[in-house]
Amino acid sequence: MSPNAEILEPTQANIQSCAQRLAQGELVALPTETVYGLAANALNETALRQIFSVKGRPLIDPLIVHCRDLEQAKNHVIEDSRLHKLADAFWPGPLTVVLPKKASIPDIATAGLPNVAIRIPAHPVFQAVLQAVNFPIAAPSANPFGYVSPTQAKHVQATLGARIPAILDGGPSEHGLESTIIDLREPGCFAILREGPIPRDAITAILGAATESAKLGRSDHRSQVAPGNLTQHYSPNTELTTLQNGTAEEFLKASAIPADEACILIAKPQSGHLADNIFWLSEDNQLEKVAHNLFDLIQRLDRQGYRRIHIECAPSVGIGLAINDRIGRAAAKFK
Ligand code: TXA
Ligand code: MG
Repeated sequence: MSPNAEILEPTQANIQSCAQRLAQGELVALPTETVYGLAANALNETALRQIFSVKGRPLIDPLIVHCRDLEQAKNHVIEDSRLHKLADAFWPGPLTVVLPKKASIPDIATAGLPNVAIRIPAHPVFQAVLQAVNFPIAAPSANPFGYVSPTQAKHVQATLGARIPAILDGGPSEHGLESTIIDLREPGCFAILREGPIPRDAITAILGAATESAKLGRSDHRSQVAPGNLTQHYSPNTELTTLQNGTAEEFLKASAIPADEACILIAKPQSGHLADNIFWLSEDNQLEKVAHNLFDLIQRLDRQGYRRIHIECAPSVGIGLAINDRIGRAAAKFK
């Protein structure tokens, strides 16, 4: 695919021109603190339809609507006291909340569901665009459907570059994983639909652990609520196989990795097992760093012609759960 999309510095003029494109019904890619988004006017059905066609995304997979603040969000969802508590704690930031929608949100945005996913992003460039337009912005991750999400402008250019006019460059996405999604459709209980940068513990600390609903979180129910939340997702083209956390060094000791395979470790190896095809996501096991680097490293290695990539899982704590969720989905295609 030839890259036509221009990568634009986030100057006032470029922010204005992207805002203008959105107002005219065009799509642009914008940076967020989680991953880059493929943005369109969330109130314009024709523009929304374009998102699905550019990404090759099925129409049953609903979109996240990004608002500039709680005031704007209130125009589009039925309010709830839990929304205010979560907004105080986490917005702007990497949390998406699913609530019953108001009529302003076109059905195509929610795949016909009566609820909408809403988020207030923290990234200053995305915020500047939201301030420059008078509508909320729908934005799925700016990757072709099923591929790894983009955390840098050049990732978007490499995959969707031929299909969109512009990408605003906001630098590498801070968190590097898509937002945590929480389902608040049912009064009095909640469920986490997607693990993300805001860990479950932080949410139960606000809403009360007792209100978490196992029933809502069940995967069969979830697939009905969030049809886009497929097990097989975020996959590179290169075969990806997983190693349990803590077993990677043993694996490297037991067998030298062939030159046409690569290995991704959570942290820099202690044992001095270094080779050109061994990579790591953090120097020191810091899981925020691992999340920040994960999609970039997978995409870089995916373009280097390896036959297989081995990847070590993170410890199952905090954001490690979201990291392992993404690693598991990326590898699911190859099982
Ligand atoms: O961090 C993020 O959330 C990024 C940035 C760009 O904001 N966006 C993102 O969007 O990850 P996307 O489209 O790649 O993933 C959104 C997922 C859908 O696949 C679906 O699982 C869930 O959000 N979702 C959206 N609307 C929903 C709804 N009405 N009910 C339940 N789940 C919904
Ligand atoms: Mg996505």
